Formats: sequence, C-alpha cells, structure tokens
Amino acid sequence: MRVTVVGTGYVGLVSGACFSEFGHDVICVDKDAGKIERLKKGGIPIYEPGLEDLVARNVDAGRLTFTTHLADAVKGADAVFIAVGTPSRRGDGHADLSYVYAAAEEIGDSLQDYAVIVTKSTVPVGTTAEIERRIREKHPAKEFDLASNPEFLREGAAIEDFMRPNRVVVGTLVERAQTVMRRLYRPLFLNETPVLFVKPETSELIKYASNAFLATKISFINEIADLCEVVGADVQDVAKGMGLDKRIGGKFLHAGPGYGGSCFPKDTLALLRTGEQYDIPLRIVDAVVSVNDTRKARMTDKVIAACGGSVAGKKIAVLGLTFKPNTDDMRDSPSLVIIPALEAAGATVSAFDPEGMHEAHKLMPGTTYCDDAFTAMDGADALVIITEWNQFRAFDLGRVKSLMRTPVLVDLRNIYGRAHAEEAGFTYVGIGKGA
Ligand code: UDX
Repeated sequence: MRVTVVGTGYVGLVSGACFSEFGHDVICVDKDAGKIERLKKGGIPIYEPGLEDLVARNVDAGRLTFTTHLADAVKGADAVFIAVGTPSRRGDGHADLSYVYAAAEEIGDSLQDYAVIVTKSTVPVGTTAEIERRIREKHPAKEFDLASNPEFLREGAAIEDFMRPNRVVVGTLVERAQTVMRRLYRPLFLNETPVLFVKPETSELIKYASNAFLATKISFINEIADLCEVVGADVQDVAKGMGLDKRIGGKFLHAGPGYGGSCFPKDTLALLRTGEQYDIPLRIVDAVVSVNDTRKARMTDKVIAACGGSVAGKKIAVLGLTFKPNTDDMRDSPSLVIIPALEAAGATVSAFDPEGMHEAHKLMPGTTYCDDAFTAMDGADALVIITEWNQFRAFDLGRVKSLMRTPVLVDLRNIYGRAHAEEAGFTYVGIGKGA
C-alpha cells in the first residue's frame, strides 16, 4: 500500500517508519526543509530507542522516503495521515488545531484519486468530521473518506507500542475506508491485536479518555502517597496490594513527582475545555490536573525540608531532567518547576541527565550542567533524583556519600530503599514512605 504521513514529529516519524517496516511504501512530508534534509541523510531529530536503525533499514530498502512536497506525496496514496502537532493554545488550554486544518486543506487540494485521510494527531471530538466538512465543501467532486486513528505510543517505547499495541482504534463507519485501514494494519492481525471500528467521535474520545484515565491513576496514587507519609504506610506496598486486584491493575500506580510529557498535561487540559464547551463539567479530570500542578511545587518543599528547612547557599545535585527516562523530551517535566524553585530559594543546582541537557539548558540557562552524575554530586548538600534513568539505579552509595558534603538523598522515584540508603549513612526521603 502507499502511505503518506504529513508531519515528521514524534508521532509521524515513528508511525511512518513502522508502516514501512510492515512493507508499505511510505512518504513522510514536512514543511521544515532542514529536518527533511537531515532525515534523508539518516539523521533522527528525536531520541527514541531503535528509531534510527528502523529508519535507516527502510530508507535503504527504498520503502521510506522524505519530502517537503505535500502535493506530490499525496498523489497515489491509499491513506494520508495527518500527524502534525496539536499543542495547547496559549492562554486557554484548548488544543490548537491550526496546523491540523492547514494540513487537511492542503491534502484536500492535492488529492486526485480516492484516499482515506486519517487524523493521527490527537484532536478534540468533532475535528475529524469538521475536516471532512471543510474538504467536501471545497472539493465536492473528490472521492475520499475520513478516519480517526489515534496513537497510544509511549515515548521511549514507541516502536514496541506500534508493533505490539494493546489495540488499534479506527474511527470510521464507511466500509471502503475500513477496508483500507484493515489492509494497512493487517501485519498486526498475526498477533491477534484487537481492532475497534467505531464512529470518529468515539475514536477521538477513546484517546482523550484513555490518557485522562491514566493521569487519574497517577494523581490518585500520588495523593495516597501523601497520606502514606503521615500515617506510616508504604505507597509501593499499597500500590502492589491494589494492583493485584485485576480490576485495578498494577500499571500507572507509581507515585512520583507528578506526570509530565507531551500528552498527559496537554490532553487533560484539552478534555476539560471540551467538557466546558458542551457544558459537561469533568470534575474528576479537573481534580487530576490540579493535584498534578500543585504536586510539582510541593516536591520543592520536600527537598527544602530534607535540607533542614533551608537550601539558601547550598549546593543541590539533581539527577534526571526529562519527564521520564529514555527520552530527550523536557516538555512539562517536573524538573522545570523544581529546579527554578530551588534556585529561587537560594540554592545552586548542578544537574545531569543522559539525554535532556541540551534542551534543559535552553529552558533553564542559569543551572550548572555536568558531564556525569558524579560531577554533579561533588560537594553537594543533597542529591535529588527526579527521573529514574537506569544508570541512576545502582550507585555505590558509599562512593556517593564520600563525594557529597551532606549525605541527604531525596528520591522522588523511589528507586533506592530507605534501609539501603540509611545503612550507607544517608538521610533518606522517598515518596509515600511513612516512617
Ligand atoms: C503517554 C501514554 O502512555 C501514551 O499512551 C500516549 O499516547 C502518550 O502519552 P508518554 O507521555 O510517553 O505516554 O509517557 P508515560 O510513560 O505514559 O508517562 C507519562 C508521565 O507519567 C511521566 O511523567 C511518568 O513519569 C509519569 N508516570 C507514569 C508516573 O508518575 N507514574 C506512573 O505510574 C506512570
């Protein structure tokens, strides 16, 4: 099949590369000529494990190409995916659909033969229908259908999630379009991936409701963690005990400094705005968002308390800047709240992250960035772990203690146990670890 993907951001590039790996002929389009040139030479603009090899392999096989010419790329395509960004609109939190509509209009103008136009970008309920209305109005004689096909890719595990998804959701009830989509995803049928054919509005909501539900699990366990701390319970054991109930499930019950990233913060806000628009207050989602917002700020208080009530004049080592491990993505990372607040409270921060420092430097230019974790810890009055990169999980705490001025460990991801840290002579503060 011939597939065109408009937008070579995270979702577009991963989806395009994975469709080509299935054996389809894929053309990825982007307006950014520099990015396209880089991609043609095998340069990957994001850090995603396995993506570079996947792209190289399929480019070499001639199944994956890159271009800036949308009109050419759309010609002869069976499916055209819209995978451009839908950032939060500044000021009101609505999803900004200007890139989506601009891409859709250009696709409509360029279409010659029948194709399915697919919204892969996360778009508020009603957008897929609105795109269809706009293109039909302008080109009443053209043959095409619209489908919504949300992605459920986790950064750092995106290829695995694409190749072995829990489900594929396709929002179109038109048979001709369903046939195209079924053929596109046929390679997944071997491992019996469930494919849900639903209305576009249902498909759009499945995406938002899934992300909001996962965010709810996180905010929920984070509040339970706070309670654990004062009543002397252990949140990891509470989560384990809850998760063994199959109706609850153990995933997304890791207490931490609050969720970040490109999806949960933006999608929960956009869902709230949709609720308001239709006069259906989504009170649970509202609480989830506010719990998460206040949480990041409270993490700073935790560090200050661990340092005896003040960080003025102290050196704080911070390990992990990205919103989660195995990505270089800093979007809405807790570190962007915690570090500036520590600095405002008079601390000097020396930080290290395996992939996020380039971006972090642009966002927090006043912070000192170190070449490795041990340089960051050198002479520090506290060590704060914000992101659980694997390389931070097995430090020789004796060595860490000998480097630091004061052995205080604030472990916002619970990767070290209290007993282990205290044995090594540390004052230990975890998340949801009651005394
Ligand atoms: C998420 C969804 O998982 C994915 O399906 C969707 O398509 C895009 O958004 P992603 O943002 O890449 O993926 O990361 P994810 O692994 O879901 O983590 C999101 C945030 O929640 C991170 O900040 C992470 O640290 C936090 N988190 C996750 C927790 O604090 N506790 C958990 O138990 C799980």
